[in-house]
Amino acid sequence: MFKPFKPPANGKEVTIDFEGTLLEVSQNITVAAAVLGHAKKNFTRLSNVNSEKRAPCCFMGICHECLMEIDGIPNQQACLIEVREGMKIKRQLGHPGVEK
Ligand code: FES
Repeated sequence: MFKPFKPPANGKEVTIDFEGTLLEVSQNITVAAAVLGHAKKNFTRLSNVNSEKRAPCCFMGICHECLMEIDGIPNQQACLIEVREGMKIKRQLGHPGVEK
């Protein structure tokens, strides 16, 4: 059975909206850490090439495996952005901005 990991509390929490689910997460952690720690299906995006699930790898802004839609803006590096109260986060499914 899935048991969500909750990062150690630093005394303050914020509420974020992850694809319609409200999550209470520690303040001062990155969006990538929040998603990996609280989501059942731990991936942040689907590959543009073959739709495989991708997840953060480097956590320092190099690999771009953590691209997510944050507050309506696609292609945000979730490993470099700290959570904020009320932030709306979605997985990035495919390549945004390319019309089919
Ligand atoms: S995890 Fe590598 S750029 Fe974000």
